[in-house]
Amino acid sequence: MIMERCLILVKPDGVERNLIGEVISRFERKGLAIKALKMMRVTREQAEDHYSVHRLKPFFDDLVSYLTSGPIVAMIVEGNNAIASSRMLAGATDGSKAAPGTIRGDFSLDIERNIVHASDSLESYEHEYKIFFNENEIMD
Ligand code: PPS
Repeated sequence: MIMERCLILVKPDGVERNLIGEVISRFERKGLAIKALKMMRVTREQAEDHYSVHRLKPFFDDLVSYLTSGPIVAMIVEGNNAIASSRMLAGATDGSKAAPGTIRGDFSLDIERNIVHASDSLESYEHEYKIFFNENEIMD
């Protein structure tokens, strides 16, 4: 067993399309436990920090603007191999290439407006969760 946590965001397009419950239920059905959950607006500073690894990429400004364009839902899920499991549930980054049965494969055709974000490594998780949650908002 590799007990891990993963940060999941239901991004602005997921919230706008009323997919919050659909996304949460996919993580719960898989067996991942929700340890923290909130709906919020992301500030420009938070978005820039969250996507800082992409700051030199041509799409960085668009990505930051998109994440701040409307409310999101942030959650921390926990379970065996949570990062790999969450990324399997999310599917490939580009919705037009993601497999049917995955969240992006079922609900997105886009590489930016792709419904969910999931941390891609333990290092990313350690950096990301602190942007969205205080320690006292995480249930042990
Ligand atoms: S990369 O280029 O391999 O680092 O990309 P990836 O790790 O798959 O994606 C990281 C996030 O960047 C977004 N992305 C893009 N946005 C706009 N335009 C383009 N071309 C683009 N490529 C990647 C993508 O939606 C990922 O967002 P998150 O929230 O991490 O899923």
